[in-house]
Amino acid sequence: MSTAPKTFVVGATGLLGSRIVSALLDKGAPVRALVRPGTEGDRKAALAALEARGLELVEGDITDPVEKLAAAIGDATTVISAVQGGPDLIVDGQVNLVRAAEKAGARRFIPSDFAVDVTKLEDGDNFMIDWRRQAAAAYADTGLEVISVLNGAFYEVMIGFMGLVDWEAGTVSHWGDPDQPLDLTSVADTAAYTAAVALGPGAKGTLRFAGEVLSMRQFHQTLQRATGRIFVLKTLGTADELRAEITRQAGLTQNPFDYVALQYQWCMVTGKGKFDVLDNAKYPQVKPGSLEDLVREAAPRA
Ligand SMILES: NC(=O)c1ccc[n+]([C@@H]2O[C@H](COP(=O)([O-])OP(=O)(O)OC[C@H]3O[C@@H](n4cnc5c(N)ncnc54)[C@H](OP(=O)(O)O)[C@@H]3O)[C@@H](O)[C@H]2O)c1
Repeated sequence: MSTAPKTFVVGATGLLGSRIVSALLDKGAPVRALVRPGTEGDRKAALAALEARGLELVEGDITDPVEKLAAAIGDATTVISAVQGGPDLIVDGQVNLVRAAEKAGARRFIPSDFAVDVTKLEDGDNFMIDWRRQAAAAYADTGLEVISVLNGAFYEVMIGFMGLVDWEAGTVSHWGDPDQPLDLTSVADTAAYTAAVALGPGAKGTLRFAGEVLSMRQFHQTLQRATGRIFVLKTLGTADELRAEITRQAGLTQNPFDYVALQYQWCMVTGKGKFDVLDNAKYPQVKPGSLEDLVREAAPRA
């Protein structure tokens, strides 16, 4: 039985949270995860696989009363949030989690940031990052050590959700300067850095990691090398035209999630969300993989 301090993870059924749990278990650390009642299907099966490796499960919800959530946290000393959702979760839920962590006597909190440089952005640049800043302001009085882990964009998101790669048509689209450097990291490596931060001593403040720093031109070349295919690099417009497109779309929909991918791209292609320094060297045990290797394994073979 491990005597290492216990980590409590919220969001363990998610894309990133499941990898964070796995990375912590890889290190032999005891982990307890908060899981919502009624988790079924693939998510339940994935949890069962983690349970077989030693994950402890407790049922609950990040919006539970503080006393109940504190009891779920129990003797865990570090609390990691990897939730995703609206302000009810990212602001109110995470503030609730911090209050519960304080009550339980935990020492550290890693919020669900995992993005571009949130400290350099302003309100309105990206509504999902605004919520994270609002949450941080609301629990700024906490005695917990708060450590924000930032990773730029996931490789997986760059080749999928962002909508930049059309695998069938064989195109890579981009806004703005194709030579602007972008911070990129795989989901697994973001999880490995988060686990290293959680288990290591002395981390504080904001830590910035990137598996690779690539421009869209280099991203395009990497895709070609990894797939052996020719992709056409297509310009969609300038960064100012992207901002105008976001404003146009915001006027057409009540659902900001419809244009959030564009807001993330704006933060990246303007360089506004770019990391000035990386903290990779503080965690030399994490050896991030390349985009090229990930695409070789994951890309659709259209
Ligand atoms: N940098 C990037 O490119 C990038 C890309 C994607 C995500 N991210 C970041 O990574 C983090 C995690 O995102 P993700 O994509 O992994 O999210 P996800 O796959 O949508 O998972 C969200 C997790 O939150 C849990 N959750 C939702 N509501 C909850 C509640 N009320 N109480 C407790 N748990 C709740 C979900 O549990 P259920 O199974 O019960 O729904 C799930 O485990 C976020 O900070 C996100 O912004 C970054």
